[in-house]
Amino acid sequence: MTLSEIRALVQDDIDAVDQLILQRLSSDVVLINQIGHYIINSGGKRLRPLLVLLCARACGYQGSHHTLMAAVIEFIHTSTLLHDDVVDESDTRRGNKTANEVWGNAASVLVGDFLYSRSFEMMVEPGLLRIMQVMSQATNVIAEGEVLQLLNCHDADTTQARYMEVIHRKTAKLFEAATQMGPILANQPQLESAFIDYGRHLGAAFQLVDDALDYTANEEELGKNIGDDLAEGKPTLPIIFVLENGSAEDKAIVRRAIETEGVALLSEVTDIIKRSGAIAFTLQRAQHEATLSKQALNDLQPSPIKTALLALADLAVNRTH
Ligand code: IPE
Ligand code: IPE
Ligand code: MG
Ligand code: MG
Ligand code: MG
Repeated sequence: MTLSEIRALVQDDIDAVDQLILQRLSSDVVLINQIGHYIINSGGKRLRPLLVLLCARACGYQGSHHTLMAAVIEFIHTSTLLHDDVVDESDTRRGNKTANEVWGNAASVLVGDFLYSRSFEMMVEPGLLRIMQVMSQATNVIAEGEVLQLLNCHDADTTQARYMEVIHRKTAKLFEAATQMGPILANQPQLESAFIDYGRHLGAAFQLVDDALDYTANEEELGKNIGDDLAEGKPTLPIIFVLENGSAEDKAIVRRAIETEGVALLSEVTDIIKRSGAIAFTLQRAQHEATLSKQALNDLQPSPIKTALLALADLAVNRTH
């Protein structure tokens, strides 16, 4: 099943989410509208809102709050991207200049805050305490993940466990919140743990692949610059693999890159990563997470929506952007 076939299953809902996003983006402060529309119209994959819609359907939800929550999740995602590009000093996203490159760091951080707080205004609308609990905790955990990652920067002794902790918090948590919305909205608490596991493993797979793509992707296709992680001295899994398994010479180069020299050593480090098997190892870990993600849905009755959820887990691994 391709991504467009998956989207077609919930196309009406997707259209409703797109409309909601545009409606709720608006503010009478001109710069907010400008930056908001700039990033929202620049063509993100909208995977997380798609997960909200599919999981709500999978749980038999018949109401209309799922489109609102899908928009909320995309707003939170977008605000983390605005902040992330400032922190990572990135100049390209979704094939365009980043907002910080066009308007500067202050404007990006503040509009990111606007999107966060707008999403909180929206998430109270269904009047469900459980939604507010899950969403407020998720945003808090994401912030912790980004700070934890900052502490790992330039630390060549970062372990795989510490790396996994970061990606669970900064990325998997929002996937988990997206998929958990299904059972919450449908009032099927007995399904929550399966959907939590599905989202958590899917999110981990997604970030593992993102971290591999940061060394291997075609920039134009990815819509982001490669090498941004090394520039920040980030010990992602491909790096950790070399530091644990490489030759003494390769380890020394990668250690120097992470500790001090960063992007100046990008081509050497990329070569080392590619020939050491670090990418294959990272993608294998991602595939394992995708398998666990699919297993979480074992008890769900077969249906086209279930097939779509299973296919999304594979697409998270087999993607080039
Ligand atoms: C980018 O997420 C941030 C990560 C968690 C890797 P996406 O790759 O889903 O970004 P867009 O929304 O499609 O641009
Ligand atoms: C994901 O990490 C960031 C968030 C969860 C916001 P990255 O920093 O690797 O994301 P990209 O590669 O810039 O999209
Ligand atoms: Mg980044
Ligand atoms: Mg980042
Ligand atoms: Mg990345």
